[in-house]
Amino acid sequence: MNISIRPEAESDFRIVENMTREAFWDLYKPGCVEHLVLHNMRGSPDFVKELDYVACDGDEIVGNIVYTKAKVINDENEEFEVLCMGPIGVLPSYQKKGIGSLLMNHSIEKARKLGYKAVFIFGNPEYYSRFGFTNAREYKVQTSTGENFDAFMALELYKGSLSEISGKFFASDSFEVTEEEVEEFEKEFPYKEKHVTDTQLFGE
Ligand SMILES: CC(C)(COP(=O)(O)OP(=O)(O)OC[C@H]1O[C@@H](n2cnc3c(N)ncnc32)[C@H](O)[C@@H]1OP(=O)(O)O)[C@@H](O)C(=O)NCCC(=O)NCCS
Repeated sequence: MNISIRPEAESDFRIVENMTREAFWDLYKPGCVEHLVLHNMRGSPDFVKELDYVACDGDEIVGNIVYTKAKVINDENEEFEVLCMGPIGVLPSYQKKGIGSLLMNHSIEKARKLGYKAVFIFGNPEYYSRFGFTNAREYKVQTSTGENFDAFMALELYKGSLSEISGKFFASDSFEVTEEEVEEFEKEFPYKEKHVTDTQLFGE
């Protein structure tokens, strides 16, 4: 295994969507939606091209990470631009070998250099705490519906960057896809059987 990280090229798009489909398939629901979310993001003004990376083993793409611009809006209706990480996916046969961590650390460092303030994610605290993410409640940021829970996390890209920012978090519209849209998009990929699995009980 010889892993390298590089920016994603347009010619990689379909390969990466298929890789994402493999990574998420049957994990949080029978089938998955993340390959369509990724597809839609690329056409969205929220997509951050400079933070779109693939991990390769030689020439084969085995992982991908992307970010979109998101907003925190406070009670005075002031808007603050932040980043939202995801989807991140690693091909199942390559998971737990440190590739996800490479993609996370590489892109976080780049986001910091680009001057972004903070990254928000919805994900497993056990995994993302290792990169410094903590419950967004600590920064007085709630979801768009005013909630806080362990999976909703934030990372300051420099010390105190979220101290002046509080309010509700609004992710890019590109995360919203319907079952019908997913069914239609699925026709562009090789058939895969959907299953109900234990991992779907717990969510991310
Ligand atoms: C999440 C994911 C990107 C991590 O990539 P990876 O290359 O396997 O991660 P790493 O090898 O850097 O880290 C592996 C470690 O993270 C843990 N881990 C990975 N995914 C985890 C998860 N969803 N929840 C908790 N722990 C997780 C592993 O148990 C392992 O722990 P260890 O280091 O203590 O042994 C990858 O597992 C994946 O593609 N999963 C399916 C898609 C997904 O759930 N994406 C995240 C939601 S956007």
